[in-house]
Amino acid sequence: MSSDCGHTVRLSIFGESHGPGVGVVIQGLPPGEKIDLEDLYAFLARRRPGQNRLTTTRKESDKPVFLSGVTESGGAVITCGTPLCVFIENQDARSGDYAGFTEVPRPGHADYTAAVRYRGFADMRGSGHFSGRLTAPVCVAGGIAKQILSRKGIQVGAHLYSVGPVQDAPFPLMPTAELLNAVAAKSLPVLNDSAGEEMEREILAASDAGDSVGGIVECTAIGLPPGLGSPMFDGVENRLSTALFGIPAVRGVEFGAGFAAAAMRGSQNNDPFVFQNDRVETTANNHGGILGGITTGMPLLLRAAIKPTPSIAQAQQSVNLTDGHSETLHIAGRHDPCVALRAVPVVEAMTAVVLLDMMMEETDIGDQ
Ligand SMILES: Cc1cc2nc3c(=O)[nH]c(=O)nc-3n(C[C@H](O)[C@H](O)[C@H](O)COP(=O)(O)O)c2cc1C
Repeated sequence: MSSDCGHTVRLSIFGESHGPGVGVVIQGLPPGEKIDLEDLYAFLARRRPGQNRLTTTRKESDKPVFLSGVTESGGAVITCGTPLCVFIENQDARSGDYAGFTEVPRPGHADYTAAVRYRGFADMRGSGHFSGRLTAPVCVAGGIAKQILSRKGIQVGAHLYSVGPVQDAPFPLMPTAELLNAVAAKSLPVLNDSAGEEMEREILAASDAGDSVGGIVECTAIGLPPGLGSPMFDGVENRLSTALFGIPAVRGVEFGAGFAAAAMRGSQNNDPFVFQNDRVETTANNHGGILGGITTGMPLLLRAAIKPTPSIAQAQQSVNLTDGHSETLHIAGRHDPCVALRAVPVVEAMTAVVLLDMMMEETDIGDQ
């Protein structure tokens, strides 16, 4: 099923951007886990639109309504272990902005492919099931997964690594939980604030030109045990990539040195092993915490490349699908000039869900 993912902790994402709402059914969560609602709301707020000039002015409260799978104990919300269903109402949809795109598809959007795949029946108002709005329920699942992982000593965090040509500093070799929390608390989640200011200028310049700009999100997970994952088709990279490509606008995923490794010599790319802090570590992290699809215990390090927002204010060339004649398209509506900014918590969320899934199925790490 295309909108389902996971083996033990399984997500099923549902809804359309301009329908009644969006949501998620999560199966396989461990019972008895506390969900700190304040913490979850704070995480969802990091993705929510309409917060500043750098994001769309669509205003959504993104209040998750728990329909099943939780109980209350001593004033706390606790997982039951049964399917947990969360619904988020859509509140600020302007479907009129999207009239006509089933006939004249928007370049860079899924209008054309959805029309072919679903024989014209897909609800494509606001991009329907393909919309960035579907990342709200992903963040609900990820926010819960992050809380459960954190109780196991695993922290997941991300930052905006680049916007167009402007680069932030990379994560250090051993990121700390304090660093990840400090970055998450910023309205522009970067390590180097002066790079952040330059990114902001880049985003506003694109927006002022009626255009958009792409970017890269770098994500890490610290505290992972060595030995998580499997070779071949069920490796940590495989599982994470499948989930990360489920985020709209993700165009590439790399681990550790990633594509840059192809330009290196082995002597540069191999990370020397050392025994320190009572365990095996490496002195660099070109391997991104994964060798042979299995975690080494070094920080997991990945980057997701996010394309420029496809909806731009400039006139664009398209075709009318009814008879094939050329049309010039003008897109109205409210759009993020740089999707990568709001994708930061979404990449964190997807990473956390996959890691929790893998942790839940690997209870026998180290037993052969
Ligand atoms: C958090 C988030 C917000 C997004 N917001 C917008 C938006 O405002 N305007 C837009 O054109 N695309 C937006 N997108 C991207 C489109 O949904 C996506 O590019 C499009 O559906 C085509 O899918 P694809 O890029 O995966 O092929 C957003 C994506 C994410 C992750």
